[in-house]
Amino acid sequence: MKKTVFQGRSFLAEKDFSREELQYLIDFSEYLKDLKKRGIPHRYLEGKNIALLFEKTSTRTRAAFTTAAIDLGAHPEYLGKDDIQLGKKESVEDTAKVLGRMFDGIEFRGFSQKVVEQLAEFSSVPVWNGLTDQWHPTQMIADFLTVQENFGRLEGINMVYVGDGRNNVANSLLVTGAILGVNMRIVAPETLFPEANIIALAEGYAKVSGAEIMITDDVTKGVDGADVLYTDVWVSMGEEEKFEERITLLKPYQINMDMVKKTKNDNLIILHCLPAFHDTETVYGKQMAERFGVKEMEITDEVFRSQYARQFDQAENRMHSIKAIMAATLGNLFIPRV
Ligand code: CP
Repeated sequence: MKKTVFQGRSFLAEKDFSREELQYLIDFSEYLKDLKKRGIPHRYLEGKNIALLFEKTSTRTRAAFTTAAIDLGAHPEYLGKDDIQLGKKESVEDTAKVLGRMFDGIEFRGFSQKVVEQLAEFSSVPVWNGLTDQWHPTQMIADFLTVQENFGRLEGINMVYVGDGRNNVANSLLVTGAILGVNMRIVAPETLFPEANIIALAEGYAKVSGAEIMITDDVTKGVDGADVLYTDVWVSMGEEEKFEERITLLKPYQINMDMVKKTKNDNLIILHCLPAFHDTETVYGKQMAERFGVKEMEITDEVFRSQYARQFDQAENRMHSIKAIMAATLGNLFIPRV
């Protein structure tokens, strides 16, 4: 019997977890979702205190960590970038040592992967990566849970990410899918292909899991036979000056009904980690329309509201999956085998 120890571990990047462990977290999320739907208490973190550190804005991750912590019986405390000394008057190391003496677990959303790693190194409590420029691991458990809910399996599913292939979500999807045996394709302009080290990492995992990896700029070839089309914003947080360049570069990679038809799959589902530029109902959306004449970007409003769209199930799954991650690493659960 293979034993695993989740207790006390941080969740900083998917590559730190085995296929069985990631699959366990997905299945445990499904279990906790069922308990939640049936109103059955699951207070695995009774009496624990959770720090939520946010250098960047967030709707889903913040809301998911907050509600998940409360459902688990823990107390979440939001510490925004202007609320604490982190990085400005106090080093990451010193902040980690202080927070680790008061809190039982720490979530961090920010720019640098090094910061989340230092928090884990110096706090002595589990640290959960709520997004850095490199990885978005808690998003992955929700995403692959959504795929599993729709297809009943992960192995052999064709997941196609279209758009900015160098961002944190693309990195995480490529590596996590490869670990889990999901055939991963990144369809992007060559200048936005994933970094060579990320591709090499994914290819290494794919050799073990049997997943097929494709990186291409050819949309027709890349989306053919897709079970899942996935996209993300064309400009990530902190890159706002790149809007014009990215709109020109990524227009052919927009998820629209032509692309949906090119998949030749009626059972297709569409995922988006959100928020999405699918209309002009936001400040940014209005600005983009005024400055560049575009009313929708990475996904059209028609597709966003279509029968294929699963982005709101995916958003809900952030809560169930973050709950699973926190409970498994901090909840003193007995997990004899994964
Ligand atoms: N998908 C995601 O991380 O959403 P937020 O930025 O709203 O947390």
